[in-house]
Amino acid sequence: MTTLTVDASRGAYDVIVASGALEQLGGLCASLLGGRRVLLVADDALTASHALSVASTLREADFEVSQTSIRAAEVRKTIEVVANVWDAALQAGLGRNDAIVAVGGGLTGDVAGFAAATWLRGIDVIQVPTTLLAMVDASIGGKTGVNVPLPDLVGGGLGKNLAGAFWPPKLVLADPQTLSTLPERELRCGLAECVKHALLGDETLMTMLQTTGPAIASGNLEHAASLIAQAVAVKARVVAQDEREAGSRMLLNLGHTFAHAIEGRPALDLHHGEAVSIGLVAAAHVGVKLGSFDEASLEALTSLLGAVQLPMELPGPAPASELLERMRFDKKVVDGTLRLVVPCTGGGAVIRDDVSHEQVLDAWRCVGAS
Ligand SMILES: NC(=O)c1ccc[n+]([C@@H]2O[C@H](COP(=O)([O-])OP(=O)(O)OC[C@H]3O[C@@H](n4cnc5c(N)ncnc54)[C@H](O)[C@@H]3O)[C@@H](O)[C@H]2O)c1
Repeated sequence: MTTLTVDASRGAYDVIVASGALEQLGGLCASLLGGRRVLLVADDALTASHALSVASTLREADFEVSQTSIRAAEVRKTIEVVANVWDAALQAGLGRNDAIVAVGGGLTGDVAGFAAATWLRGIDVIQVPTTLLAMVDASIGGKTGVNVPLPDLVGGGLGKNLAGAFWPPKLVLADPQTLSTLPERELRCGLAECVKHALLGDETLMTMLQTTGPAIASGNLEHAASLIAQAVAVKARVVAQDEREAGSRMLLNLGHTFAHAIEGRPALDLHHGEAVSIGLVAAAHVGVKLGSFDEASLEALTSLLGAVQLPMELPGPAPASELLERMRFDKKVVDGTLRLVVPCTGGGAVIRDDVSHEQVLDAWRCVGAS
């Protein structure tokens, strides 16, 4: 069992990584929460499995449990889904001391977290991530939010997480046993965020990915718990230093400005981690052009992504100019200037606001845009 404590503005919280820990959730909540009512916001694919276990441990700890579910599809990650959770909170009579418990992947956690941030101007949220991606990334750090539709002019689809709030959880409980039901495609998506964390300068995580990543990508979870604990440590360290992304936390967006431009584009049908993988390669090409990342590092990155079966090229046609246009809707654009996180040789990354449109277009072409 690994427990890490993350400093946050609403109070420090623990991130617990332990196999079988789901059963302890009720007891942990009893010592953490002021109220006796909880609203379980569950991924609807998990209502008969992990969400059931969570509801029963909470009931055993004498909580009054109500439940609502969410379909985990990016097109449905909108304000309407948050409004449904508000309705459920109203029906459940959730008061200021009560809490929302999110059980699911990053999508469920983001929606449930945003509902918690806004219900009665903010109630506690407990994150119980059930995807690798949510365990190592989305559940930690308090970013919550939903997508907003983009204009047809840039190909339509969704602007990723454009509306949201920083709302740190009261507890994060990651039980690697819940990953036994996760499809391999989703395991690989989680590995993409682990690769990103490792690129930011964690050599131990990089070595773990090289040695155990390929097996995890094929569904062998023997070494998943130690990989998760190491990746969680990276994320926890960064968000504790810069909760509201005023500086160093921005580096966690490595690859994401590219990823967000393709993830919400319906024709490409990319899951978040897959878009991040392609985004990491595009950002690495920018790094090579700018001289911060050398060719050998680019090769090492693509060889690792290949070994864990992640995509490095767009799966369908997309004009580079349109993708560049979509990047204007990224949250890191300031006064119309694109800010890109670019990797460095030897680990780490830098934020650059001097990347020319031509260099960005070139990077898009390197990953298969026309
Ligand atoms: N808040 C943050 O800091 C942050 C960071 C990274 C990503 N995100 C967000 O997270 C989302 C992506 O998260 P995700 O990859 O977890 O996707 P997800 O929540 O959409 O889950 C992926 C799929 O796995 C299924 N699933 C979840 N747990 C399962 C389990 N244990 N067994 C079987 N199936 C299971 C879901 O039903 C879904 O089909 C995106 O919306 C992204 O924007 C947020």
